[in-house]
Amino acid sequence: MKNITVIGAGTMGNGIAHVFAQNGFKVTLVDLSTEAIQKGLSTIEKNLDRLLTKEKITEATKDTTLTNISTSTDLITGIKEADLIVEAATEHEAVKLELFKKIDAAAPSSAILATNTSSISITKIAAATHRPAQVIGMHFMNPVPIMQLIEVIRGYNTSNETTATIMTLSRQIGKSPVEVNDYPGFVANRILMPMINEAIISLHEGVAGVTEIDTVMKLGMAHPMGPLQLADFIGLDVCLSILQVLHHGFGQPKYAPCPLLINMVTAGRLGAKTGEGFYTYVPGSKELNVSPRFTK
Ligand code: NAI
Repeated sequence: MKNITVIGAGTMGNGIAHVFAQNGFKVTLVDLSTEAIQKGLSTIEKNLDRLLTKEKITEATKDTTLTNISTSTDLITGIKEADLIVEAATEHEAVKLELFKKIDAAAPSSAILATNTSSISITKIAAATHRPAQVIGMHFMNPVPIMQLIEVIRGYNTSNETTATIMTLSRQIGKSPVEVNDYPGFVANRILMPMINEAIISLHEGVAGVTEIDTVMKLGMAHPMGPLQLADFIGLDVCLSILQVLHHGFGQPKYAPCPLLINMVTAGRLGAKTGEGFYTYVPGSKELNVSPRFTK
């Protein structure tokens, strides 16, 4: 495997391109506009500079990483020589199904098609192609250059060969892959999201305040970040949509999203990215203040 195409240069896509390129692969980064690609490339450069300052890489590694990345705004050109395509486009089912149809039609017949989806069924995405045995989930964690885990998700028809190739490749880029099966939320979000939801329900019912809930989980369970702060970091809209996938997929009331979460998303309070969620955020500042809505 030599040529990797990453589709989507956003938060996850640029991180995935960075990690493959730093490990010697030729990467083509595809997005819809040159602006989106430029933004992705400048994030990669910033992250490489940070690694350089910390002496984790050399100037030569930074240069080779950047020269290993080429870009395209044309999907078909971007995938025509790919051995592996990792799709990290926007989390909309219709967008992904359409993309996989096009990718399947234009990519080399031997290519493996992976998706970084956090909640959409791999089996459903695979069914949009004529090569379901070569379709697999590669769920990287954010921030990609730092986080060790890749949740490797087997769809119903994913072959042993495809799985073995992706497990080996994941180790080659310095990650620790874990193989799981395709059920709503896979493993990471099936366990994480109900915990976040329960933290929001506890706040909503007045069991404790924002700081108290997060402190219990940080000091009591040794979590690096409390569940409410983590929800702000992930994005409350993303948390809501994953909970809806779990609720819909399993049909069990235990996955029903807390009404407070629904209200906050409806009101546009989506967490760090909008400046307010359970906490308020000032760009460039690391100070963490509870949102006035949740102070007495
Ligand atoms: P993002 O919104 O930062 O980036 C998505 C990029 O995809 C945008 O630059 C957009 O222009 C591009 N795009 C959309 N449609 C496209 C198309 N047809 N062709 C080419 N590019 C297209 O989103 P983010 O956060 O990077 O998420 C990407 C995927 O990764 C989603 O499936 C998400 O669920 C998953 N994910 C996100 C995590 C996170 O913490 N943000 C964690 C793990 C998975």
